[in-house]
Amino acid sequence: MTDHHDNGRIALVTGAGRGIGAATARLLGSRGMRVVVNYLSSDKDANDVVASIQAAGGEAMAVQADVRDAAAVARMTEQVRASMGEVEVLVHNALIPFAVKSFEQISWAELGTKLDEEMRAAFLVTKAVIPCMRAHGYGRIVFMSTGTSRQPRQGMIALGTSKAALNQFARYVAQEMGPHGITANVITASPVDETSIAYLLGDEHRKRQAAQTVLGRMATPDDVARAVAFFANEDSGFVTGTIAAVNGGGAWE
Ligand SMILES: NC(=O)c1ccc[n+]([C@@H]2O[C@H](COP(=O)([O-])OP(=O)(O)OC[C@H]3O[C@@H](n4cnc5c(N)ncnc54)[C@H](OP(=O)(O)O)[C@@H]3O)[C@@H](O)[C@H]2O)c1
Repeated sequence: MTDHHDNGRIALVTGAGRGIGAATARLLGSRGMRVVVNYLSSDKDANDVVASIQAAGGEAMAVQADVRDAAAVARMTEQVRASMGEVEVLVHNALIPFAVKSFEQISWAELGTKLDEEMRAAFLVTKAVIPCMRAHGYGRIVFMSTGTSRQPRQGMIALGTSKAALNQFARYVAQEMGPHGITANVITASPVDETSIAYLLGDEHRKRQAAQTVLGRMATPDDVARAVAFFANEDSGFVTGTIAAVNGGGAWE
């Protein structure tokens, strides 16, 4: 069943070939949004996501672009405009790589690169969609962050510090863009099963992660996608500048 409010809205999901982004793209597609599946290099994954949306009766297209690259983001926006129209919903989810190291081990190059790339990508994709959202007086922006942006975890100083910057960036975007009908919200997820990071964790580690939640299991990409869908549609019309924990009650923030 599709939600009539969402019908036809164009949603760009960055990093949607796999993991949380793929689950989000599929869900938004099933709810009647026209979905742009952005990815970096895995054409096959992105094309599979598009095919599954289309097989379920939805509309989608895959667009390759490195969201850290201004020219690539501009090309992606042009491609979407030419084939579908203007983006009304942005889900910025792409996973920018980072070093898993302690403060004592990490170099400035490693920490600085993550800070630069995380914020550059968020800045570029937001800049790309704001003018048209503003002109139409409507927009939904959802930024994918992490629990480690608020609660430090071993080895996560690069991820947590850069995502903390993203959280506050989102609040500034929300504050400036509210008068133009654009909302911006952040999701902080706990470790999510069936993602590249989860596959790297051993079974013991995954069990420990599950035990740390009140609900007794790790998050799935679909759990996160459903929260994204709320912030991406009309139901969240009076909610902006929030940072929503999707963590099974893992840590009270
Ligand atoms: N997994 C977790 O446990 C977890 C927990 C909390 C928050 N998060 C956040 O959730 C988001 C998604 O994470 P995930 O684990 O679902 O990721 P994932 O499964 O590793 O998938 C990453 C996606 O991002 C794309 N990507 C990477 N770099 C890109 C770039 N420069 N430009 C465009 N696309 C790019 C990849 O494209 P290719 O396939 O082409 O490489 C892929 O589609 C991230 O922001 C992450 O920080 C994840």
